[in-house]
Amino acid sequence: MGTGRKSTSQESTNHVAVNSMKLAFIGAGNMAEAIVAGIVEKGVVDPGEVCVTDIDEDRLAHFVEQYGVGRSSGNSAAAAEADVVVLSVKPQVFPSVWPEIAAALKPDALVVSIMAGIPSAKIAGGRPLRVVRVMPNTPALVGAGAAGIAAGIFATAADLEIAKSLLGAVGVAVVVDEEQIDAVTALSGSGPAYVFYLLEAMLEAAGQMGLEPATARRLALATVAGAAKLMDESGEPADVLRRKVTSKGGTTEAAIGTMEERDVKKSVVAALLAAQARSKELACG
Ligand SMILES: NC(=O)c1ccc[n+]([C@@H]2O[C@H](COP(=O)([O-])OP(=O)(O)OC[C@H]3O[C@@H](n4cnc5c(N)ncnc54)[C@H](OP(=O)(O)O)[C@@H]3O)[C@@H](O)[C@H]2O)c1
Repeated sequence: MGTGRKSTSQESTNHVAVNSMKLAFIGAGNMAEAIVAGIVEKGVVDPGEVCVTDIDEDRLAHFVEQYGVGRSSGNSAAAAEADVVVLSVKPQVFPSVWPEIAAALKPDALVVSIMAGIPSAKIAGGRPLRVVRVMPNTPALVGAGAAGIAAGIFATAADLEIAKSLLGAVGVAVVVDEEQIDAVTALSGSGPAYVFYLLEAMLEAAGQMGLEPATARRLALATVAGAAKLMDESGEPADVLRRKVTSKGGTTEAAIGTMEERDVKKSVVAALLAAQARSKELACG
């Protein structure tokens, strides 16, 4: 879905003050909890200005107790009060909840959707509604997320800043064009699963080589985190860093050579392209 905007990829660096705004989270699930925890703990919002809704009373009670936010069992009542409405229900729930929420929105409300696969134009439904789409990932649950943020056609630069403030509280938030959201889904949305898959394989090999599971887990996790940190802080490309640890005739060369023989890199590229294609299919409904 094109927004007609020029590419605006950039990391979250500055935050607009959203603590004077009323926020409503529609759907108090895992991802909503990650974001609410982050924005409350980091002081991005005053918890008294945040309201969550859910069909599960226990979830609402948990949010109130844990984060000091307000609760509502009515989606439209919560939306009617909010300056920013965060759609954090599952995409399949969207068609049933959206009509009553849309009808209740304040005229100048901003809608931030974290729902996968629902284009901003579908949410706007032909009205001049300001929608920002977000593709988060599960490491947001531990404050280490990576989110792509895209402006719908009527969203402003200030709206993007609001979304960056919310998602920046739980990790990295990067602005992209909406047509790139499927690529973001394939890269960072689904990305944690690729790393877990690699870790599964590394730990299986560690077991075959006789390492204790706890020892192997500690070493493997520190290796993944350390490699990411080294690449981030050195600013060097991945292939340069890889070559630096691959001496001729050495152990790393034996490993990488085996991967190259088996076309592992091509398989990973094909996997991400398949994820992007599937994301596009899902968005078309
Ligand atoms: N998890 C991820 O990795 C990830 C990544 C990117 C994007 N997202 C998106 O984030 C969104 C939320 O995902 P999640 O993992 O947080 O899902 P989730 O834990 O299932 O959260 C959704 C919440 O909405 C509640 N709900 C259902 N019907 C409702 C209604 N009519 N009104 C209000 N609340 C209602 C659900 O209650 P019940 O459980 O009782 O049905 C649940 O508590 C999804 O749209 C997903 O596409 C997730």
